[in-house]
Amino acid sequence: MFQTRLNDVAAEVGAHLDDVLAGYPDQQVIHAMRYAVSGGKRLRAFLVVESAALFGAGGAMNAAAAVEALHAYSLVHDDLPCMDDDDLRRGQPTVHVKWDQATAVLAGDALQTLCFSLLAAPETHADGAVRADLVASMAAASGARGMVYGQALDIAAETAAQPLNLDQIIELQAGKTGALIQWSAEAGARLAGEDIAPLGAYAKALGLAFQIADDILDVEGDAAKAGKRLQKDAEAGKATFVSLLGLDGAKARAAELVEQAEAALDIYGSQAQTLRDAARFVITRDM
Ligand code: IPE
Ligand code: IPE
Ligand code: MG
Ligand code: MG
Ligand code: MG
Repeated sequence: MFQTRLNDVAAEVGAHLDDVLAGYPDQQVIHAMRYAVSGGKRLRAFLVVESAALFGAGGAMNAAAAVEALHAYSLVHDDLPCMDDDDLRRGQPTVHVKWDQATAVLAGDALQTLCFSLLAAPETHADGAVRADLVASMAAASGARGMVYGQALDIAAETAAQPLNLDQIIELQAGKTGALIQWSAEAGARLAGEDIAPLGAYAKALGLAFQIADDILDVEGDAAKAGKRLQKDAEAGKATFVSLLGLDGAKARAAELVEQAEAALDIYGSQAQTLRDAARFVITRDM
């Protein structure tokens, strides 16, 4: 069953991150890093592990831990008072609430560099060129043309004179959420030295569906299940897929995108069933 498989990968990557951080100094910032990187659905890790499994590639656990570390950094900073000012994440107080803002900034910084050190580690792949490719593609996905770009557009939109239109929201999403999801799904092909294009097409549709689902959850989700404050987008007056398409329109668009994501995997046949299930999961999840 899909959920069992997702839980197994989540446990495995969580344990790996614990191992990696076990040797670090007994210091507040390290405690905050461990705290921030624990929990979550581990969807990005799952995409790394399952895309690698498609080609029988090794090294997936380091790459999976790497993307979860980077994702955790993005959440710690996203929750800061200067950004979304959130006090709850994954059902727990956010890092700056539990400790303080300086600790949250530093823990985020160090989670980001941890990502790159994991990708560059020889255990990730024997071939240095493959490791360099993972590092460079992650830098692109997470940086000023990727996640950071999307986050900057998101923050700018809060004070813009006009709400964003659909094309602008799609561009924002492609950076904010899409880039890391795409990196994750392509990682297996990078590790295996295979063509990344089919997984890239899958992930583009999946990433967009994921963000639409996040916007829908923000409106009608259960905060106890989601583990974070909801109804924040409307409160901030943000244009989202829901504000532009309506709830039903957003749900229909997300369902279409899942079909597109599934179709992009046709060339892999039944081998890719778990990745198809992941696409379905993205729009049926309640957290
Ligand atoms: C939340 O991501 C932030 C977005 C990019 C919308 P997830 O919904 O994957 O969060 P976790 O990792 O499961 O907590
Ligand atoms: C966060 O997006 C995306 C990143 C951290 C890159 P949101 O601000 O919509 O995520 P939530 O709703 O706080 O999880
Ligand atoms: Mg945000
Ligand atoms: Mg946020
Ligand atoms: Mg959101």
